[in-house]
Amino acid sequence: MIKYSKIFIFILCLWPLTTISLDIYNNQLGAEPIKKIMKHFGEWTLIFICITLAMSPLKRFTNFNFWIKFRRMFGLFVFFYATIHLLTYIGLDYRFDLKPILNDILKKKYIFIGFSAWLLLIPLATTSSQKMTKLLKHNWKKLHRLIYVIAVFGSLHYIWLSKTIFFKPLIYSVIILVLLTLRIRIKKKI
Ligand code: HEM
Repeated sequence: MIKYSKIFIFILCLWPLTTISLDIYNNQLGAEPIKKIMKHFGEWTLIFICITLAMSPLKRFTNFNFWIKFRRMFGLFVFFYATIHLLTYIGLDYRFDLKPILNDILKKKYIFIGFSAWLLLIPLATTSSQKMTKLLKHNWKKLHRLIYVIAVFGSLHYIWLSKTIFFKPLIYSVIILVLLTLRIRIKKKI
């Protein structure tokens, strides 16, 4: 049952990649195609961060362990979509010209925080396997708390690049705040 649900959820997680691929194929990206691709993957990265953070509260409220089984997969999809988002910026927007990219990272605070969030995702993605969980023992849990920092960085990135918190950046910030508060309350009860 879990095996089939995992396959089903995995295919569902590829939905954002499929829709944008179809838009590219049908030439439906509009006047600013690179911007559209970047925004698409940026927003989906944030959505997957929210989904990943929601798994523990869902387990707690439904008393159903089922949710936790998907947390690792959702977390890896955060890294997957964040990396495509980053590669779109580096490869399509700047054609791998590293000098202006470095300049952006150092001078634009929203790029700096977005890039920091992506860097923080690397240790999480590389230690997500069962083998690494066993190897790192209780340090694994400590390390994976970085997802809270990543979530805050992601929402700041969105607010700063939009230059206003209204409305979508506000909606995501509130969702992230609620999910983080729930996680902290769950931890206190444990
Ligand atoms: C966890 C990491 C990240 C998250 C959650 C994230 C999220 C987002 C979101 C939500 C947007 C706005 C989408 C919209 O307007 O609908 C966005 C846009 C953008 N992101 Fe990120 N991002 C991340 C990492 C990065 C990195 C590493 C870079 C580059 C170094 C980057 C560069 C950009 C740029 C340039 C835009 C603006 C696109 C435009 O409007 O022209 N992001 N990102």
